[in-house]
Parts: sequence; C-alpha cells; structure tokens
Amino acid sequence: MSPVSSTQSVPEAGAIPAHIAIIMDGNGRWANKRHLPRAAGHAKGVDRVEEIVQACIKRGVTHLTLFAFSSENWRRPADEVSLLMRLFMAVLERQIERMHSNNIRLRIIGDITQFEPRLRDLIEKAESRTAGNTRFTLTVAANYGGRWDILNAVNRLINAHPELAQQAEPVSEAALQPYLAMHDAPEPDLFIRTGGEQRISNFLLWQLAYTELYFTEVFWPDFDTKQLDLAIASYQQRERRFGRTSAQVNDKC
Ligand code: IPE
Ligand code: IPE
Ligand code: MG
Repeated sequence: MSPVSSTQSVPEAGAIPAHIAIIMDGNGRWANKRHLPRAAGHAKGVDRVEEIVQACIKRGVTHLTLFAFSSENWRRPADEVSLLMRLFMAVLERQIERMHSNNIRLRIIGDITQFEPRLRDLIEKAESRTAGNTRFTLTVAANYGGRWDILNAVNRLINAHPELAQQAEPVSEAALQPYLAMHDAPEPDLFIRTGGEQRISNFLLWQLAYTELYFTEVFWPDFDTKQLDLAIASYQQRERRFGRTSAQVNDKC
C-alpha cells in the first residue's frame, strides 16, 4: 500500500491514530527527583518502550516513531552520550528476536554514519532481520534532526537527478518525498512530548505539518498505558481540518 499523506486525506473523527510520534523526554528529571543518577532515568525510560509498543499494537496503531537521540544530544557530557549508546546497543541485542517474533518491523532513522561500527552493525542486522514484518512499524530516531532529514533528502534527490538542478520547473513535494527518512510511513497523526517542555526540538519538522500536538508534564519513565490512553482521548476530541473550514469537514459529501 502506498503511504497516504495525512495532509491530503481527512481521517475519520474519533479514529485511532495510525501513526504516533513521541519525544520521550524527562528521564533526567525523573531521576533527579528521586536523587538517582540520570542513568537510572534512561534505564527506566527504556523499560517503558515495550509497554507502549504493546499498548499501541492492541489499540490498532500501526506506526510508532520514538525520538531516542537527537543530532543535538552529542552536546551532552561524554559519559552520558556513551551511556545512551550502550543502552541502545543493549536494547538492539536483547529485544530484536522478540520484536521479530511479534511481527514488528524496526527502522532506525537518522545519520547513523556517526555511530561506532558495532552499533551500525547492530542497526543494520536489526533492520534486515525485521524488514519483512508487517504488523507494526517501530521507528527509532537516533542521531536524527528534522533539518538534517530535509537537507539530506534534497541532496540525495539532486544526486539521483542532477538534471533537476538545471530545469526551470520547481521541485515538487512528491519528488522530494521518497528521499525523506519517513518516506514509507503515513505522516504522524498524533505527536506526544512527555516531560513538560512544549517544543519540537528538531524532531520530524516536515512530517509534523498537520499532526495533532499533545504535551504532558509526565516524565517519560512514568508514561504508562493510562497516559497513552489520555493522549489518544485528547486526539479524538480534535477536529482535523487540513486548511478546510469546520463546515466542510463535518459535511462529508
Ligand atoms: C530524554 O530525557 C532522553 C534523551 C534526550 C536521550 P532527558 O535526558 O532529556 O531528560 P531531561 O529532559 O534532562 O529530564
Ligand atoms: C529531545 O529531548 C530529544 C530526545 C528526547 C531524544 P531534549 O531533552 O534533548 O530536548 P531539549 O534540548 O530540551 O529541547
Ligand atoms: Mg530533555
């Protein structure tokens, strides 16, 4: 099935979001509050992922995209960065067979060329092991930045079609789309950011154009199935208009 841009089709009101994108924020503050090292917050945060994946599958969500490490997170202290890399590797090593047996496809988006070879190797193996799975797509954004994604797409498009740079016609959205990191997924319907900050922090800048935004004070390590249901319930109250009027959206003919 070819992906449908949510900016072109209006989903049914009250529908379960097909694609949820989450900025998993607040691990450090969760730990600070308990006088624990930040590492404890990250470890607890990893544990939450499986619960949320299972809850999404049960509710009929087909795509979940998680922001795990931004292109700006290299600015953190070196020991925190290396801890996050080790956690990522441990998850890939431990969870991949379980994901595979659950028919989950794992994708990693971001500039993985910056990662050490062992991590790159694990990413490639995990992606190819689960490439044929169809029940659910879990995308993890690692060394990802929305600006990087758009520039990378433009550069790849021009490399593949150098003639485009010469032609008088402007490049279309449809021409760029296949080169974006999320080219084979529908655009996110619901964006969740935990941890209280109300910003995008260079996540999916292109794809979030018409996504419903939900911000919660709850720290990621405390974000459980009940919290997910609150976010989905909030989404179901929204009226998605995609530029149209309310009357147009309600009058389906
Ligand atoms: C999110 O939690 C995890 C990553 C960015 C890797 P933080 O580590 O940003 O936690 P806070 O925002 O400092 O509480
Ligand atoms: C965003 O969280 C990135 C991830 C959750 C991976 P940050 O904690 O890095 O965001 P800022 O710096 O507060 O905007
Ligand atoms: Mg943070």
